Amino acid sequence: MVAPLKVGLAGLGTVGTSVVRLIESERAQLTARCGRAIHIVAVNARSRKKDRGVDLSRMRWVSDPVELAADPDIDVFVELMGGAEGAARNAVTAALSAGKSVVTANKALLAKHGIALAEIAEKQKVALNFEASAAGAIPIVKTLREGLAGNSIARVYGILNGTCNYMLTRMEREKLSFEECLKEAQRLGYAEADPSFDIEGHDTAQKLSILASLTFGVRVDPSAIYVEGITSITTADLEAADELGYRIKLLGVAVKTDKGIEQRVHPTMVPKDSAIAQVMGVTNAVTIDAEGIAPITLVGPGAGGMATASAVVSDIADIARGARTAPFGRPVSKLTSSRKLPMQRHEGGYYIRLLAVDKPGTAATIATRLAEHSISMESIVQRHRGPVPEGRRAPVPVILITYATTEDAVRKALAAVKRDRVISGEPQLIRIEKN
Ligand code: HSE
Repeated sequence: MVAPLKVGLAGLGTVGTSVVRLIESERAQLTARCGRAIHIVAVNARSRKKDRGVDLSRMRWVSDPVELAADPDIDVFVELMGGAEGAARNAVTAALSAGKSVVTANKALLAKHGIALAEIAEKQKVALNFEASAAGAIPIVKTLREGLAGNSIARVYGILNGTCNYMLTRMEREKLSFEECLKEAQRLGYAEADPSFDIEGHDTAQKLSILASLTFGVRVDPSAIYVEGITSITTADLEAADELGYRIKLLGVAVKTDKGIEQRVHPTMVPKDSAIAQVMGVTNAVTIDAEGIAPITLVGPGAGGMATASAVVSDIADIARGARTAPFGRPVSKLTSSRKLPMQRHEGGYYIRLLAVDKPGTAATIATRLAEHSISMESIVQRHRGPVPEGRRAPVPVILITYATTEDAVRKALAAVKRDRVISGEPQLIRIEKN
């Protein structure tokens, strides 16, 4: 029998304690699958005294995570502390430098320092595994890195933030306001400590940067991603999308174009019959368009103790089995730089919601401006404006869906429409992602 794999674990929050529980409850099965036992031999967390509801009595307590990382008595260091800098970065660097394999769930650390850490892992010939860093329990890292190693991938896109999907679902189904839904998401513990990280799209961008690297062999770099959150989405948009056969999702999209790899995060209209449109609530999903085969969609829990622990333990099991892959699927020297493509050159369909001034010629003016920029309309809907106080002429909501065009053309046409003074306020613009 091979000697047990000795694990040092730093971070005993919801995820850390779930990892302790899962390794304990699946002990026999894990041993059978890996051909050796997995033992958590030492742990570290901020407070030693806190009752976490798990038995830590057989584990050594190490008060400094960096010391634990380089401990001669561990084979693998599991980092579940979080944060792109400080203790997490120092401890992971120390573990890799000491020749220990590392498992981490830390998307922020990987998004910022993933390449530098992968370089150390490669040099030391150890594993750096991070299945839990994107989409929780969904095995998307292994799918892209190993399961589809023989395929060229044209596009990968997904719902990578449960908070936003939960909010958009409740806004759509129950017509609740953005603020009410955010409060609920916070109360239920879905949102990050700073919820602006979720709703402004940065959480999705960090996860997308990891998936884009695995998919297209670009260096992990969130600054190469165009990011727009969901704060401008209203129930009026969700209602209009529904009537037009779409749903609105915050998507992270990485797609191969003739100009390079386009990486973007923004609210997106997706056809209601697409797999991604069926994903409601806090659930995550990722669709992969691999050449020569029909799209693959993986759906599952993207956050939470057990969901994240499931991914962490599978990474530990890989190390126990002796499996080691280049962290980003190929050696760091083979990764190409991530270049931010100008969004003005993005091509696709658009949803545009305008508040049109109620006077003769408004619709003709809008249509003319769109035509001047070679934008073809798939549909145009003028909605009732609702009750208006007598004698006043309130603006009328107009919703347009365009055929594929460029962002540059849409923005220029709308600027011209504004100059014509036939709309009130700012137009709403949502990009459409076709199946
Ligand atoms: N705040 C994140 C979410 C947690 O809502 O998906 C998981 O990264």
